[in-house]
Amino acid sequence: MTKIVILTGAGISAESGLGTFRDVGGLWTRYDLNEVATPEGFVRNPALVHEFYNARRRNCLESTPNAAHHALARLEKDYPGEVRIVTQNVDDLHERAGSRAVWHMHGTLSGALCAACGHRWPAPREMRAQDRCPACTAAATRPDIVWFGEMPYHMEDIWDALRAADLFVAIGTSGNVYPAAAFVQDAARAGAGTLELNLEPSDTVTDFDAARHGPASILVPEWVEEMLSAG
Ligand code: OAD
Repeated sequence: MTKIVILTGAGISAESGLGTFRDVGGLWTRYDLNEVATPEGFVRNPALVHEFYNARRRNCLESTPNAAHHALARLEKDYPGEVRIVTQNVDDLHERAGSRAVWHMHGTLSGALCAACGHRWPAPREMRAQDRCPACTAAATRPDIVWFGEMPYHMEDIWDALRAADLFVAIGTSGNVYPAAAFVQDAARAGAGTLELNLEPSDTVTDFDAARHGPASILVPEWVEEMLSAG
């Protein structure tokens, strides 16, 4: 059975109105990632970090999946092989489009995590530094997001899936952040074919067997159509 592993990044949600990080006007050109996306930044100023992720949660709730998310959900449903999505995105647009096999390696905006005891629960719309953990009552509520310097989630499962993959496809990611940026090499080493679908050539484009460049809302439905008519 053919196994496809798909890595998605901020570019797949750009046409749903969610900002990317490193493009012109991207989040990391407007915010200092050391202040809002590191454990040290959270200790220094939890209110600022909550404000940043509350705004992103609002933005996510107001957005809807685009043609690229819908096409991947259709692929999972109709393809006669196995389709798994590994996303770096903290939005839930894959799930809202109908995808089920999704690993959020950088966490999700819909989750709250207690920095004191590790308990997890569904995030309220607005999170505040003084919110108490429902398990241990510590006022140490943080978004369930993986910050720089922390270990991404599901890594053992992801590496197993990459080792077993026949095809690895990266969509809408700049290839700047590890370990995700090395997945193309991990998959290729294990024998998978590799394809990049991105607005422009990513930093890791030369690691791929093939690449197509343009908006995800066009490229992804076209590629899914090809896979379904070939499968
Ligand atoms: P980036 O902002 O680094 O890259 C987004 C990529 O999407 C760029 O290569 C764009 O060219 C491409 N892109 C933009 N619009 C597109 C469109 N309509 N269709 C297709 N591609 C498009 O975002 P990521 O690679 O996802 O981590 O960033 C990786 C990680 O860095 C994020 O998960 C986040 C960030 O710091 C954490 O916060 C832990």
